[in-house]
Amino acid sequence: MASAEVADNVIDIDPTILELEQRAAALLGMPAALWTPSGTMANLIALSVHLQRGDRFLAPKGAHVLLNELGSAAWLAGGMPEPLPHDAGPGRPAPGTLSAAIGGAGAPYYALRTTLLCLENTHNWAGGAVTPPDEHAQLLSVARQAGLRVHLDGARIWHAACALGLPPAALTVGADTVSACFSKALGAPVGSVVAGSEDFVARARRMRQMLGGGVRQGGVLAAACLVALDRVNDLGAEHEKAKRLATGLAELGWEADTPETNIVLAGVPDVAVAVESLASWGVLAGPMAGKVRFVTHRDVSAQDIDEALRRIRGGNAK
Ligand SMILES: Cc1ncc(COP(=O)(O)O)c(C=O)c1O
Repeated sequence: MASAEVADNVIDIDPTILELEQRAAALLGMPAALWTPSGTMANLIALSVHLQRGDRFLAPKGAHVLLNELGSAAWLAGGMPEPLPHDAGPGRPAPGTLSAAIGGAGAPYYALRTTLLCLENTHNWAGGAVTPPDEHAQLLSVARQAGLRVHLDGARIWHAACALGLPPAALTVGADTVSACFSKALGAPVGSVVAGSEDFVARARRMRQMLGGGVRQGGVLAAACLVALDRVNDLGAEHEKAKRLATGLAELGWEADTPETNIVLAGVPDVAVAVESLASWGVLAGPMAGKVRFVTHRDVSAQDIDEALRRIRGGNAK
């Protein structure tokens, strides 16, 4: 970061940001990409470009755009959210459910207009759950046939790709836009991208500027994102640590789900009490989906996982 080559990104000449955007676009299988300070802003930009005020958009229940972006999809992008159940598996709506939610052709003029499907891979609230490419393709096909646009919240797309042993571009096929983060277990302190067509990125750049996301010598930040990009194939190590934690928690009697990636959800009788107790033992976790959520990342070692388990055993968090 200290030695990054920089120039003004607001006028789109910062060489390090440009390098990052090109590399990220290629990896995501998209013509172009735009750096954003956060995944939240990347999603908001995509939804703002795709939606007209009052348009309904569909997303799997618990999606980040539904639960964790303070209603900006409605307040700023003008969208009317509709959650879809996870009836094909964690984080994954079934194609038939999607089709039924969209409704048939020939709706009267006073019917809601449904214009966007927003998928999430991996699905955070479902515990870092992975959608495989065949299911992605089926959902895309239903959405496309109904004339919907598709945005993929790929904040952790690198995790999904790593877990499946596939290139990230295999998981974005047919989507209009995809967002991806460099801060999710990869070590970058700041930075995401939103990717799509050249035309989309031109519109996204105006929106980013409106939201105050245009930065000057942003190459300092993009340099950290480039380091993160070099690490996307190493995420298997984080997934192994998550499994180690889940196995250890299960041995202690916790109801820990088997993680697909780097998020472990564990059911306990009182989540707030458990999170507070864990914090008092120096084990940081948070509440999510009515469970305790643990996340592994590259600065937590396998030994740290064992130490966390030792402290939980000693404290009897349950
Ligand atoms: C699925 C998903 N999308 C978007 C985001 C937002 O990313 P950021 O924290 O960079 O705003 C997150 C953050 O955890 C996420 O889990």
